[in-house]
Amino acid sequence: MRTLPLIALTLVLGVAAARPVVAQPPQPLPPVPVPAGNPITPAKASLGKALFWDEQLSSTRTISCGTCHIPSAGGSDPRSALAGSIGVHPGFDGTFGTDDDVRGSPGVPSSLALGTYVPEASFGVAPQVTGRKTPSMINAAFSPLLFWDGRATGTLADPVSGATVLTADAALESQAVAPPVSAVEMAHADRDWNDVAARTAESTPLALAASVPAALDAWIAGRSYPQLFQEAFGTPQVTPARIAMALATYQRTLISDDAPVDQPPPGPGNPPPLTQLEAQGRNVFNGPGRCVLCHGGPLFTDHQFRNIGVRPIFEDLGRGAVTGLPIHDGRPSGMMSGDLLTWSSSTTGAETSTSTNRRSSSRSA
Ligand code: HEC
Ligand code: HEC
Repeated sequence: MRTLPLIALTLVLGVAAARPVVAQPPQPLPPVPVPAGNPITPAKASLGKALFWDEQLSSTRTISCGTCHIPSAGGSDPRSALAGSIGVHPGFDGTFGTDDDVRGSPGVPSSLALGTYVPEASFGVAPQVTGRKTPSMINAAFSPLLFWDGRATGTLADPVSGATVLTADAALESQAVAPPVSAVEMAHADRDWNDVAARTAESTPLALAASVPAALDAWIAGRSYPQLFQEAFGTPQVTPARIAMALATYQRTLISDDAPVDQPPPGPGNPPPLTQLEAQGRNVFNGPGRCVLCHGGPLFTDHQFRNIGVRPIFEDLGRGAVTGLPIHDGRPSGMMSGDLLTWSSSTTGAETSTSTNRRSSSRSA
């Protein structure tokens, strides 16, 4: 008796799988959510771009946001896939070379405020590696919650006073206050945001950058950070919240809307945007693969958190560590970065199943 419904279900799914699917381009992207207290302006986006790429934001002056979030790699970090240990975190068991190793991003060596290196248990005085894979900042503007576990919420609290600065749609701002004081990613031990702001105020914008795009260089025009903050915010104060708001504003301009999959369907004057193989892949994605169940809509995500079983829960509690609810344990969100948007991804199934996190792609931004 109990097997009957199962058989019926299989039949229904089998029929659904066999039905041909008409390839439709995704619906247009929704408008980018913008917090009421942090409107997008060209000056603020340019300031955020300078800050995003400025290695002086890290206490070691060696790591910028763009060190790990690389546009030409879909916004993730191609170093994670390199041979050797540069992008390897030893995982839950703390031992390198075992099955639970994580492919992450190298940040800073463990150090004290005055620059003294302090050997760290796993990495010694080598750059420490993040315990999760770097997701993309491209299209991150659309996520109501950020980080794999959603711990960056829509509310921005001032990282010094704790006062609420923005009350909604500010996940990018609340994300941005983390890396500059993370002792793995960009900071010495116990760095605080007063230090980040003071360092930024005294730094010559992008002084360490090997090359600065002409338009950004023309906008900076030899000015200091206080002068750039003056133009972006009306007064020259370089505050922690303003740094976060500028970084968020820049990232709100990093929207992928020009991949082959965004192009109109073939017709008079429109060549097919996808190769035959890509179009077949889309049919599988929307049809028998049933990927759209979770990766549907224009953003290829429904913004839900799910445990899809790529790692044992005890290794990374995921969403459960944020909500405290056991039912959320092991659930990362299913937002897709650039790789699926190109439909020419270098991704393999093996990579997906061995990584808890997003991989890089060949998409350029
Ligand atoms: C050392 C590498 C590294 C640096 C430097 C770094 N990030 Fe990240 N970034 C990561 C990792 C790893 C995560 C995921 C962490 C997690 O989910 O726990 C992440 C997550 C994010 C996310 C969330 C994306 C999503 O879909 O959830 C954004 C946005 C982001 N970073 C922007 C920034 C900004 C802005 C800076 C500079 C202030 C920065 N990152 C510096 C590695 C880095
Ligand atoms: C039950 C929901 C669900 C279904 C169905 C699903 N996925 Fe996912 N997918 C997720 C979640 C959650 C993640 C992110 C967490 C992770 O990587 O563990 C993810 C991540 C991914 C990523 C990595 C995205 C990135 O930014 O790095 C790719 C690629 C992907 N899925 C492709 C597929 C394909 C192809 C299918 C269909 C064969 C599929 N998914 C079906 C939930 C789903």
